Amino acid sequence: MISAIRGTRDILPGEVERWQHLEAIARQVCERYGCAEVRTPVIEREELFEKGTGQATDIVQKEMYSFTDKGGERVTLRPEATPSLVRAYLEHNLEQAMGVPKIYSIGPMFRYERPQKGRYRQFHQLDVEVFGIKDPMVDADVIDLAWRLVQELGIQGVELIINSVGCRRCRPVFNAALLAALGDDLPRLCADCQRRAATNPLRIFDCKVPADQPIIDALPHSADYLCEECRTHFDAVRRHLQTLNIPFRPSHRLVRGLDYYTRTTFEILASSLGAQNALLGGGRYDGLVKELGGPDRVGIGFAAGLERLVLAMPEDAGVPTPLVVFVAAMGDAARDVALVLVRDLRRAGFRAEIDYEGRSIKAQFKRADRLGATHVLVLGDAELADGTVTIKDMRTGQQAPVRRQEVFALLKEAEGAA
Ligand code: HAM
Repeated sequence: MISAIRGTRDILPGEVERWQHLEAIARQVCERYGCAEVRTPVIEREELFEKGTGQATDIVQKEMYSFTDKGGERVTLRPEATPSLVRAYLEHNLEQAMGVPKIYSIGPMFRYERPQKGRYRQFHQLDVEVFGIKDPMVDADVIDLAWRLVQELGIQGVELIINSVGCRRCRPVFNAALLAALGDDLPRLCADCQRRAATNPLRIFDCKVPADQPIIDALPHSADYLCEECRTHFDAVRRHLQTLNIPFRPSHRLVRGLDYYTRTTFEILASSLGAQNALLGGGRYDGLVKELGGPDRVGIGFAAGLERLVLAMPEDAGVPTPLVVFVAAMGDAARDVALVLVRDLRRAGFRAEIDYEGRSIKAQFKRADRLGATHVLVLGDAELADGTVTIKDMRTGQQAPVRRQEVFALLKEAEGAA
C-alpha cells in the first residue's frame, strides 16, 4: 500500500464539512470587506520567493520545495502566497483595473518543516492583501477583517498581538542598537541567532531556545527606536483599533519570520492550539512591490492557516444539512416512482438517497440507518395505488401515510424545526 507523504493529509467526510463551512465564511467576510478573489498557480519561479520571501528567512534557507523542471528551469511550490499575489498584481496591472487592489486567495502552500500538531508540509492559507494605501486606517481595517473572520467562525480564547518593526530608515538604527546591546553576549547565543545577527538581527526575537531567553529579554524594543513617521503611524493604528473596540496586546517580540515586513506586524493567537498557536499573521510590506520590480507601492495583508482555524473552531461548526431523506421502494413500479421522487426532493433542496439495487425493505432500512437518515419515505404497492407515501421519522419512530405532494411541505417544516 502506498501512503500519503509525511506532513500531508487527506481531508475526509466528517472533517471536510468543517472546511466547507470555513471556506464559505472566509469568502463571505472577504467579499464584505471589498476583497476580490485571485487564484494563482501553486508553482512559480524559484527567484520569486528568494527575492520576495527573502534570502534571510528559514523558509528560503531550509523549507522550500524547489526543483529543476524538465525544461531546466528552477521552480518552487509556493511556501506562501504574498509574493505570488504581488507578481499577479504587477503582471496584470491590477492597480489600473481595480483602483485600490484588495484581493484574497485560498489554497495550498508547501514548506518542508518538521510536522507536528498544527504544522504540516502541505497546508492551506487564506491570504488577504491590500495595495497602495499608506494611511494607518487600512492597517486597522485589515486587522478588523482578520478579527471578524475569527469571530464569525466562533473561535474562543483568541488574542491579537501587534508590534511595529520600523522602516528602511529606522530599522538600521535599531539593528545597531541590538548588536550594541548584545555585545559580548552574542557568542553565547545559539547558532541560528549568530546567523541572524549577521543577516537580520531583528529576527533574534524569533528564537525559541530556552538558554537564549534571558539575554533576549534584556534587549531593546523596536517600538522604542521608531522614526517620527513610524511612531505616528503605529500610534494611529492603535488608536483606530481602540475605536473599533478590538482588544490587543503590544508585543515587542512579534518580528515575524519573513524579510519583507515594515511598520505594523500582527498575529491572532488561539489558546486552544498548543505550541503552534498562531491562527494568522501578517503586516505591512512597504518595500516588497518595488523589490519585485514594480513601482514604489506599499502593501499590507495577512495569511490565516486553515488547518489551525479548523482545529480551533467549535465542535459543532459546519454540521451538514439537518435532514437526510431515504426513499425505500418495493417493486419495479415503485422503484420508478421513487427515482423521480428522489430527484424532486434533491431539486427542492433536500439531501435524498435511494437504494439502487432493489434489495429487501429490511436491507433498505439498514442502509438508511447507516446514512443517518432522519426520514424514510416508503413506497410500496399500497402507496402506489392511493398516491401516498409512508413517512417514518427515524428519530421518533413515528410513521404515517401522507399524500405524495404534501411530503415536501412536511419535510420543510421538519427542517425548520431541526
Ligand atoms: P506566516 O506567518 O508564515 O505568514 O503564515 C501565516 C499562517 O499560516 C500562520 O499563522 C499559520 O496559521 C499558517 N501556517 C504557516 N506555516 C504553516 C504550516 N507549516 N502548517 C500549518 N499552518 C501553517 C505568511 O505566510 C505571510 N505570507 C502572511 C502575510 C500576508 N503577510 C502579509 N501578507
